[in-house]
Amino acid sequence: MIVCVCHNVSDSRIRRSIDAGAESFADLRQELQIGSTCGKCAGCARQILREHQPAIILSPGVQRLLNGLQLGQGAVAA
Ligand code: FES
Repeated sequence: MIVCVCHNVSDSRIRRSIDAGAESFADLRQELQIGSTCGKCAGCARQILREHQPAIILSPGVQRLLNGLQLGQGAVAA
């Protein structure tokens, strides 16, 4: 599917850029010129970016710290 008509950029091309290291819309814009003409593709490109970015994997210690903060327990000394 073509996402950016102005620059003929497809969703698969955007995904390949993300796989190759693009981390933000600015990265995609710089590499593919998406959103740089009429801008109508920006929302769709951002959605693909959100859906295709790899999930952040936290270590168990960081997960426990974040869980404690969410419960209002604060940080626990190691
Ligand atoms: S559709 Fe992407 S800049 Fe126009």
